[in-house]
Amino acid sequence: MRIDVLTLFPEMFAGYVGQSLLKLAIQRGLVDVRLHNIRDWSSDKHQSVDDRPFGGGPGMVMMAPTVVECVEAVQTGNDETYDEEHRRVEPGHLVMLTPQGRRLDQRVVEELSTQRRLVLLCGRYEGFDERIRMVLAPDEISVGDYVLNGGEVAAMTVIDAVIRLVPGVLGDDESAHCDSFSSGNRLLEHEQYTRPREYRGLEVPEVLLSGNHEEIARWRAERSRQRTAERRPDLLSD
Ligand code: ADE
Repeated sequence: MRIDVLTLFPEMFAGYVGQSLLKLAIQRGLVDVRLHNIRDWSSDKHQSVDDRPFGGGPGMVMMAPTVVECVEAVQTGNDETYDEEHRRVEPGHLVMLTPQGRRLDQRVVEELSTQRRLVLLCGRYEGFDERIRMVLAPDEISVGDYVLNGGEVAAMTVIDAVIRLVPGVLGDDESAHCDSFSSGNRLLEHEQYTRPREYRGLEVPEVLLSGNHEEIARWRAERSRQRTAERRPDLLSD
């Protein structure tokens, strides 16, 4: 899967892209993440990307020409980061990260993971000039009902959840199909324990030490159901 991120703060992604599961997925050629600085598409001498809103009010609004031209250039491959192989990649599914979007959940993550290419547009300041939406018709996605300082952390959330579903990214023994919230599993995970067997007087449940795999599976299924009933009864009812 190829993921292009359009942002005013590409440096924010450096640590994340270079770590852990994503780093391995990139090294193994399963995921290709490209960062683009929206400011590079600004045409005036101050390289401005935002301006005051018409009609007044606080904050700054991201300007349509810069953002639209950046998205179009990245989607058509008119930027220097493309190589021959990636010229063949389709324009990609454009996602705008905004608190006004549809709420991200595992169903949306599964849907996004079927795309060969995602283009993630991160906003800053008070928002986007409405004509960006009108021209580009992006899939608007929110990570929750709270306001972040920008779309970058939201984009990392999308990437983090989506790459788990890219075939080969997780090891054989950590199938994403077992994840809570995935289709076919609407239960929270059962509790887990590791060494030591006793900590501050708290013992690991006997059944987990029994070696009886059938009984362990039964116990885990029951704990999973109970936890869900206690913490997220809504998952059992819908
Ligand atoms: N940008 C600011 N807040 C956001 C949110 N909750 N989800 C996605 N993008 C955002």
